[in-house]
Amino acid sequence: MMPGHDQHDDRRLRSDDRPRWGLGERSARVRAAMVEALSGSGAVRDPAVLDAMGRVPREAFVPRFWSLPPPMQAGTPADVREWSVQDADEGAAALDLVYDIDRALSIRGDPRASGPAGAGVTSTASAPRIVGSMLELLELSPGMSVLEIGTGSGYNAALLREMVGRHGSVASVDIDAGLVTETAVRLEAAGYGDVQVVAVDGYFGLSERALFDRVVATVGCVDVAPAWLEQVSPGGFCLVPLQHGGWHPLNRIERSGGRISGLVVGRAGFVAIQGHQAGRSPWPHAGPLGPRLEVEWAALPAGLAAELQPEAGRETVGGRPMWDLAYLLALEDRRTAFMLSLADHASSAAVDPGQGRIGLVGPDGPAMRDRLLEVAQRWVALGRPSLDDYTSSFTSLAHGAGREAAGPAVARWTVDRVDFRQTVSLNIGD
Ligand SMILES: C[S@@+](CC[C@H](N)C(=O)[O-])C[C@H]1O[C@@H](n2cnc3c(N)ncnc32)[C@H](O)[C@@H]1O
Repeated sequence: MMPGHDQHDDRRLRSDDRPRWGLGERSARVRAAMVEALSGSGAVRDPAVLDAMGRVPREAFVPRFWSLPPPMQAGTPADVREWSVQDADEGAAALDLVYDIDRALSIRGDPRASGPAGAGVTSTASAPRIVGSMLELLELSPGMSVLEIGTGSGYNAALLREMVGRHGSVASVDIDAGLVTETAVRLEAAGYGDVQVVAVDGYFGLSERALFDRVVATVGCVDVAPAWLEQVSPGGFCLVPLQHGGWHPLNRIERSGGRISGLVVGRAGFVAIQGHQAGRSPWPHAGPLGPRLEVEWAALPAGLAAELQPEAGRETVGGRPMWDLAYLLALEDRRTAFMLSLADHASSAAVDPGQGRIGLVGPDGPAMRDRLLEVAQRWVALGRPSLDDYTSSFTSLAHGAGREAAGPAVARWTVDRVDFRQTVSLNIGD
């Protein structure tokens, strides 16, 4: 870097490379409000991330979309339908949804089509809150090279491009070839034509452009892919929404001295990955439970109901309760479905802490209820361990993965994924 050179300026694109698309003054106003909401809620603190999010016109990447219900919304609200920001009557309302920090927008699939909400959706523009917090977790600086798995709308690729500045580079891959073609046009139109977008199964990474300082997946992955670890520079890391039961905690995964280690650094839920990893989940019934009419409800034991209230400001994703108990449950039982539930083809049981009750369905419902209560009581007895109380290591299943026992731990579990065995250690009091 040249003496006196302002690092912050380097992060910006040249003014003639700036986005050319946007809905003018109204867009600028709503975008500024989004940045204010992200900053005010504490969701994003890094000024460079806030700055980038204040510059990229999100509507350029999601001109048409299906809105998804906000977190924990019961039923299907009337605004869950198709929107266009260019619509003469509804463009302004559409723009408000585009810049709602907790709204994910479907760009492939009608969320009302069939099954539980969101089941038929294969691509979304993730909610700005999660986009911003992932950008922060990537610890980007000017000049870095980044590979994104899951181009989707291209919005995050444009933000990455802003963050790494003109001396950096961004490549992004998506398995949906039609989407890649559309998104490449949008990126070009918005002034980000130098982002390389490629239609490929991201499982294989992008070897011709390796090495990367960061590999970030923006899709719910069943495993970290060996290619990502091979294609990340020494000292770099992968940020992966790694399926764990019915959600995708964000894992920072890195290789150092022959050891692959992982830390949970955030809470998230994403659309499921397609291609090589699809259908290979260690949790075969994971996903939202379909509507069931014949649920039998019973009150939770009184003491437990109080213990299961989520800790304010911590156990949430975008305002939605995300109990840390769910992390332990998925380690303890591979029948974990969505959040605090167990399921198989015929039966299920689910804790509803908000109402202080537990519901069961089918012949194995009572046994599943007992198991849920047992794990919940264990979690309470362990002192309600949080996500940062766990560490992971990954060993290759192809090389006869053993169980890596690195030092003392309160408890340890193994999860066999696609290529790696994840050994998870609970380290309370370290
Ligand atoms: C949540 S969206 C990505 C959001 C995106 N980063 C944005 O800014 O809009 C997930 C994307 O991952 C893609 N995807 C699913 N499986 C994939 C795979 N194996 N390789 C690459 N992309 C994949 C989907 O087509 C979808 O577009």
